[in-house]
Amino acid sequence: MDIKFICFYTLVLLVSISSGSNIVVFLTDDQDILLGSLTPMRKTLQLIGNMGATFTNAFVTTPVCCPSRSSILTGMYAHNHGTFNNSVEGGCSSLNWQNTHEKRSYAVPVKTAGYKTFYAGKYLNQYGREAVGGTAHVPLGWDWWIGLVGNSRYYNYTLSLNGTAKTLTSEYLTNVIKNYSLEFLRSIHSPDVNFLMVLAPPAPHAPFTPEPKYRNHFSSVKVPKTPNFNTSDNKDKHWLLRMSPAPLPDSMSSHLDNIYSSRWETLLSVDDMVEAVIEQLDTVGLLNDTYIIFTSDHGFHVGQFSLPWDKRQPYDFDIQIPLMIRGPGIKRKTMINHPVLNIDLAPTILTMAGLEPPAYMDGSSFLPLMLKKMKTDIERRVFLVEYKGEGDDSTLDSSCPLPHDNTLSECVADALCKCQDSRNNTYSCLRSLSNASSHLFCAFEDDENFLESYDLLLDPFQLHNLAPDMDNGTINTYMSTIQNLKNCTGNVCNRYNT
Ligand SMILES: *[C@@H]1O[C@H](CO)[C@@H](O)[C@H](O)[C@H]1NC(C)=O
Ligand SMILES: *[C@@H]1O[C@H](CO)[C@@H](O)[C@H](O)[C@H]1NC(C)=O
Ligand SMILES: *[C@@H]1O[C@H](CO)[C@@H](O)[C@H](O)[C@H]1NC(C)=O
Ligand SMILES: *[C@@H]1O[C@H](CO)[C@@H](O)[C@H](O)[C@H]1NC(C)=O
Ligand SMILES: *[C@@H]1O[C@H](CO)[C@@H](O)[C@H](O)[C@H]1NC(C)=O
Ligand SMILES: *[C@@H]1O[C@H](CO)[C@@H](O)[C@H](O)[C@H]1NC(C)=O
Repeated sequence: MDIKFICFYTLVLLVSISSGSNIVVFLTDDQDILLGSLTPMRKTLQLIGNMGATFTNAFVTTPVCCPSRSSILTGMYAHNHGTFNNSVEGGCSSLNWQNTHEKRSYAVPVKTAGYKTFYAGKYLNQYGREAVGGTAHVPLGWDWWIGLVGNSRYYNYTLSLNGTAKTLTSEYLTNVIKNYSLEFLRSIHSPDVNFLMVLAPPAPHAPFTPEPKYRNHFSSVKVPKTPNFNTSDNKDKHWLLRMSPAPLPDSMSSHLDNIYSSRWETLLSVDDMVEAVIEQLDTVGLLNDTYIIFTSDHGFHVGQFSLPWDKRQPYDFDIQIPLMIRGPGIKRKTMINHPVLNIDLAPTILTMAGLEPPAYMDGSSFLPLMLKKMKTDIERRVFLVEYKGEGDDSTLDSSCPLPHDNTLSECVADALCKCQDSRNNTYSCLRSLSNASSHLFCAFEDDENFLESYDLLLDPFQLHNLAPDMDNGTINTYMSTIQNLKNCTGNVCNRYNT
């Protein structure tokens, strides 16, 4: 071989070794930022937030589990990866997804680049169902696969261990994930082997079951009475929010408080897991060459706009997420106000591994932003929030006096039959932020073509819908940007920022 070639390849080899760092991702389930769910996570705030970057404007583009998790894996908007709801027909872990987009998750190029990869915990809501390959299906890109079958649970669940089913009844899932992750880290014998590790605990998702040692730890904690909590009517909002009862009767108070405080209690085990993983990384001398990401798949509400408890709404409590990152080159206590999205995570992870994000990803890497010094400026960014409302008769309590015809979803007696979703809770929104503005415009695909618009600088709790007073010209401009974004792919998705 030509000496020039040898030099070239040696250089490429050196660059590829030195540019890739280890990556650990903690991905929680349904964890809000705006209702204060990070408050109990004191160790995580100290070990990740204070030691690195905290993002004050992190959002998801679809506020429900399976679509958002699919976006996190692929860096794509839901309209490009095709998973629109939590069921197999809606794309969730479907055979079509497995044969196309799942093979393009960030894990695949990272593993190809020589990383050892590990995934443990909740994956996609329909993962492991018999109809879509059962537990034998191990998504491409993962060396260690400890995938939870179905939706989040804390006890009595089945895992796919590298393709083999194992049912556990009395082991608390967050701790099982922690134990596997420590075993994986112990198996990394050489600092020359890079690794990617994803830990996806069920917390703080329903059924909100704390580990026994944390049960009642926060029994005196009450749901925060944000200005949009328990609103007495929502006349200026879309149909689902106008459903009665509003305000919520007093009888629901203790129920909401229990949900809220139990969510905090489940997060204490996640806090322990974060500490244990970071201690282990320190013990084996890998902590300073590891990026550690802490985030969630979307937000949550408990009583906001008199909605009982759920996600699936375009308001900030459901679309904003916690996001903190520490790692090589990121200064302590960096605050980043520039908006970043769930679709940016895959490209960011790829650049952390020294790889170039592929053109089909709609998001972009924010690693360069973190490596700069203090960056409190917001460059204007406009993004799409897209959601297809679900209708599912099987999630309606038979005792509820409601039409049982697949137009409504999750209407339980426990929440006074107030539905958490409906077919016509289908919307496309533009969320935009800059130094001098913060705005949401939503168009609902319902019988009323309902519009909502909020100026979040003046009205951070989204109490005053400005849409009825908007002129047609402004509405048409927003609608055409929405249309463009709903059709965007790759780089084009970032071209509507003016
Ligand atoms: C899964 O496979 C990896 C790679 O072959 C192996 O090292 C690991 O021990 C396996 N894990 C489990 C839980 O079976
Ligand atoms: C575990 O779940 C299965 C299936 O859902 C159920 O039949 C069983 O009773 C549960 N066991 C325990 C201990 O909760
Ligand atoms: C995790 O490992 C610890 C230490 O080996 C053990 O005591 C604990 O029972 C394990 N927890 C679970 C849920 O497997
Ligand atoms: C909601 O507000 C009403 C008064 O408007 C009050 O009676 C009720 O207790 C509140 N509900 C909750 C769940 O806090
Ligand atoms: C990490 O720390 C070790 C020893 O403390 C040092 O040799 C190494 O250069 C450091 N690596 C980075 C990326 O800072
Ligand atoms: C999910 O989406 C698919 C495809 O649009 C649809 O057929 C299905 O009814 C939806 N599921 C629910 C529960 O709404």
